[in-house]
Amino acid sequence: MPLQEKKILICVSGGIAAYKINILVRQLIKQGAEIQILMTPAAQHFVSKLTLSTLSKRPVFSDFYSENDTWNNHVELALWADAILMAPCTANTLAKMMHGQCDNLVIATYLSAKCPVFIAPAMDLDMYQHPSTQQNLALAEDFGHIVIPAETGELASGLSGQGRMAEPETIIDIFCQYFESSKKKSLTGKKVLITAGPTYEAIDPVRFIGNHSSGKMGFALAKAAAERGAEVILVSGPTSELINHQNIRVCPVISAKDMYEEVFKHYDQADMVIASAAVADYAPKEIAVQKIKKNDDSLTIELVKNPDILKTMGAQKKKQFLIGFALETNDEEEHALQKLQKKNLDMIVLNSLRDEGAGFKKDTNKIKILTQSGAREFSLKHKQEVARDILDFAEEQLLK
Ligand code: C5P
Repeated sequence: MPLQEKKILICVSGGIAAYKINILVRQLIKQGAEIQILMTPAAQHFVSKLTLSTLSKRPVFSDFYSENDTWNNHVELALWADAILMAPCTANTLAKMMHGQCDNLVIATYLSAKCPVFIAPAMDLDMYQHPSTQQNLALAEDFGHIVIPAETGELASGLSGQGRMAEPETIIDIFCQYFESSKKKSLTGKKVLITAGPTYEAIDPVRFIGNHSSGKMGFALAKAAAERGAEVILVSGPTSELINHQNIRVCPVISAKDMYEEVFKHYDQADMVIASAAVADYAPKEIAVQKIKKNDDSLTIELVKNPDILKTMGAQKKKQFLIGFALETNDEEEHALQKLQKKNLDMIVLNSLRDEGAGFKKDTNKIKILTQSGAREFSLKHKQEVARDILDFAEEQLLK
């Protein structure tokens, strides 16, 4: 049974879809899972504690204190779980989760959790469509949570549209797939160092030279490597990307020089390095102490070359498997191969700005991977899938 001995904490919030939780709990238990249920105060109007505690074979908690004055330790509850499922997740609970508004046991437990979090939203269609809900769902994905989208159909309000909580079978399938794929821990015991995002090179206290890199690719790589069991150091330039995974340590930096210094604190211990950052090639020679005033018709800023972080890593390479990125606009393969050699890399990931769907700020990417001995081209995919392709390819090379 795929869910044998998996500890699943189900947090029920106050929506009519809570009636489906009885069936879900029964089926999860049949699959061998251990279930602990928490409820928000509002959830108790929709489903009974007695039913859920009977089905889950455990007491159900909804408050920080139980009737016999025992404290329901939210930290222990969170650390017990292999996975947390927020279902049904109302707009209110979702908003509280995303903004840390910790006014009940469910949210305190969620905030204390280190395990994967699954969210099955359920609400009326206009609430689901509202930009605030959509933004919170997008934020949940940024946090690394797995959102199980609401289904379309008849709603309790009598309206019809998207907002129905996913059916128990769908939720169970997603759990089974998740636990099946997380068995693939091919990078356990490996340290993976990843650079991501742009660098900002200060001109004065207000301005900088930067670029359009969003950091999405590097963050997707960090998540994919962590899911395979690697210990990940993610050195990232300024980005709006967020990540929360027990195997990932984020080291934020601003400039190329900062990135260089941070990277070399970790390089010796790294087994694999993925340099996906768009490092600025040049930085202003002097950083003006005061904001530069617009006096003249033209302004000249002298730029000096930044250290090439990846090239330096290549020159000092011992055990590390080095992966570089090349973003090119012309003669793509030739330039990528030159970089592979000049920087002493084991493989290079090429993306061309000429490809539709690839490049800055996009959620998708189209890559070609080159090594000294060959090349493989991939189709346009979501960056999370591209990250898995890159790691699969790297692991294949390591096994050769
Ligand atoms: O030479 P180019 O900038 O095109 O090389 C791209 C690759 O080198 C990327 O993997 C990038 O992260 C890395 N790089 C670096 N330090 C620099 C410039 C690029 O690590 N100063």
